[in-house]
Amino acid sequence: MASLKQKRPQRVRPLVGSVLALAIGFGIQAAHADDALPKLPSKTPLKVGFAQTESNNPWRLAETKSFKEVAAKCGWQLVLTDANSSPAKQVSDIQSMIAQHVDLLVFPPREEKPLAPVVLQAKKAGIPVILVDRDVDQSVAKAGRDYITFIGSDFIDQGHRAADWLVKATGGKAKIIELEGSTGASAANDRKKGFDEIIAKNPGMTIIASQSGDFARDKGRQVMETLLQAHPDVTAVYAHNDEMALGAIAAIKAAGKQPGKDIQIVTIDGTKGGMDAIAAGELGASVQSSPFFGPLACDVAQRYAKGEKIPTWVKVSDRFYDKGNVKESMQYGY
Ligand code: AHR
Repeated sequence: MASLKQKRPQRVRPLVGSVLALAIGFGIQAAHADDALPKLPSKTPLKVGFAQTESNNPWRLAETKSFKEVAAKCGWQLVLTDANSSPAKQVSDIQSMIAQHVDLLVFPPREEKPLAPVVLQAKKAGIPVILVDRDVDQSVAKAGRDYITFIGSDFIDQGHRAADWLVKATGGKAKIIELEGSTGASAANDRKKGFDEIIAKNPGMTIIASQSGDFARDKGRQVMETLLQAHPDVTAVYAHNDEMALGAIAAIKAAGKQPGKDIQIVTIDGTKGGMDAIAAGELGASVQSSPFFGPLACDVAQRYAKGEKIPTWVKVSDRFYDKGNVKESMQYGY
């Protein structure tokens, strides 16, 4: 589900000076801010580079599958890479796609800052870019000026929705451990911002520890194990994705506590594993974060090639699962 909206929260103010400084720092020449966006040819096949961040969780696998499935329908010849969780590798994967002269670049930037200069490099090489899922630092590369658009969820709102559920589930009284996503990722920054904003307005709710579990199940389990020892009084967990929440559930059980009873857990993603944990009563709720960007990117690319004006943010709206609706919503899990 996507709606076309122009308005988006400005995380950072655009500063032309810092664009140049950062670009030079990364050893590239900045594209001129005033240059028009590169055009996209209307041809078949269209050579499209999709530079994935990693493939270590169901969310990433579903996202990649969505691009593979749409490629044939959209007339795309897909060039696919996997950065194995390394922002540096994702940059070099994209640089190699630029060198191959792909017609269009589509990627989820693993982190906001390291991936911004390569957007300018693509623009300078005349290759249009669509960012999906995560965004880049807007003070370096700006949607509508340096790349066509950002297609993705409102991560701040996801954090708000997770916090609202937790406030209700705990009666406004909780000691919370927050398991953050990958440091420097827009998904982690904004999910934290949104959640922490609501918690700050509830005096009975305290975040007693907040640490990155890198959006990974085993890292989430390890971090939770350590934090459980330091904070045995914890009564709630907010994990920035389902995989870390499932890792936290394993750690809580290993510590002899009952997830969903002794400790309430709320998370984001709506994976099949997360939904099963809600049905089992171990996970309280999961805000969906849709990974199905392939058809949306195809639609945006086709409209852009025809010369249509594309909004700077193609906003994806997300479902919400808790024990009240999880059983009839299983078809949406991935
Ligand atoms: O950017 C979206 C996040 O990245 C998903 O929540 C997570 O599972 C993935 O790795």
